[in-house]
Amino acid sequence: MLLKLTVLPGDGIGPEVTEQAVLALQAAADGFGHQLQLQRKAIGGAALQEANDPLPSDTIHSCLASTAVLLGAVGSPAFDHNPGHLRPEAGLLRLRRELGAYANLRPAVFFPALEDCSPLRADLVRGTDIMIVRELLGGAYFGQPRSIEGGPGARVAINTMRYAEHEVERIARVAFELAMKRKKKVLSVDKANVLECSRLWRDVVTGVGKNYPEVKLGHQYVDSAAMLLVQRPTDFDVVLTENMFGDILSDQAGGVVGSLGLLASASIGGPVGLYEPVHGSAPDIAGKGIANPLGAILSVAMLLRHSFSLEREAAAVEAAVSAVLSEGSRTADLAGKTHSAISTAEMGRRVVDAVKAHASLPHAVSS
Ligand code: IPM
Ligand code: MG
Repeated sequence: MLLKLTVLPGDGIGPEVTEQAVLALQAAADGFGHQLQLQRKAIGGAALQEANDPLPSDTIHSCLASTAVLLGAVGSPAFDHNPGHLRPEAGLLRLRRELGAYANLRPAVFFPALEDCSPLRADLVRGTDIMIVRELLGGAYFGQPRSIEGGPGARVAINTMRYAEHEVERIARVAFELAMKRKKKVLSVDKANVLECSRLWRDVVTGVGKNYPEVKLGHQYVDSAAMLLVQRPTDFDVVLTENMFGDILSDQAGGVVGSLGLLASASIGGPVGLYEPVHGSAPDIAGKGIANPLGAILSVAMLLRHSFSLEREAAAVEAAVSAVLSEGSRTADLAGKTHSAISTAEMGRRVVDAVKAHASLPHAVSS
């Protein structure tokens, strides 16, 4: 198969982790007899520097002409004082919208080898396997009007949380479909005791749930869900939630399983899928070669699965990650007091070797 991708390294640690993710993808492609066609383009702060636009039209065109997009991260303190539309993040939000990527899947899986990494007791976190389904194109991120107005001392800022019924319905369907292939549990997270958006959300999700009688649907207020996520993470299966709650809870889930650096994501629903690690640009450690590339590498697995239906290839990448962790490979975020930390590139090299080893097993031979 020809795998046609646009790669957007972006800012901060984005380029470092993306480089390793591309090497892992290349190893999987080679191992299973696929061909990669990659275009590298600018986004975020990198694009602002080049073109004064966080999402140049050349980048959008390349993404729309690809089957999938692999992104590193966007965000840089250099642009903190820019107006909203000239911030790196604006490029990512526009890209998500241009790609119609309304469904953001963020798995948070606990690796048995990482028992010492979670701040939670091993007996609490062992077995955690959560799929956060975050609505990605609505809510306060995109609602109009939005503004800051008025003079010093008297400024007023406005954001609008807005959801239309069809937006809730389509993301709910994604969550229920995923639940059918998992433990058949959906927890819908909202703030229906305060927000109209959440009352509509709860009502529509309940309606969609009627088409999935086998799936156990629960509703939880977001404050309570945040507490339960650290108290009883193994109770969760699919978590369905709106844009901002999903942003917050997915970082928290990263903390629960040991490091945000492990978390991958897929943003799907439109014609082109977008794959990115959850962690962001981490400017404090950028350029040091110490970032964890596993979130980006696991995003490659999601890309193979969701954009190309290459399940064996996706599983090979995931198995490679599990294998290197089991052998004790740790980047700085995971090393703690018990392990010595390896670099981003060394972690990537070990994953590539493990992917190659896995692809050469007889059961993996391409049909
Ligand atoms: C994420 C990030 C983004 C978001 C930022 C960089 C705009 O935090 O993907 O979780 O808020 O969606
Ligand atoms: Mg976030």
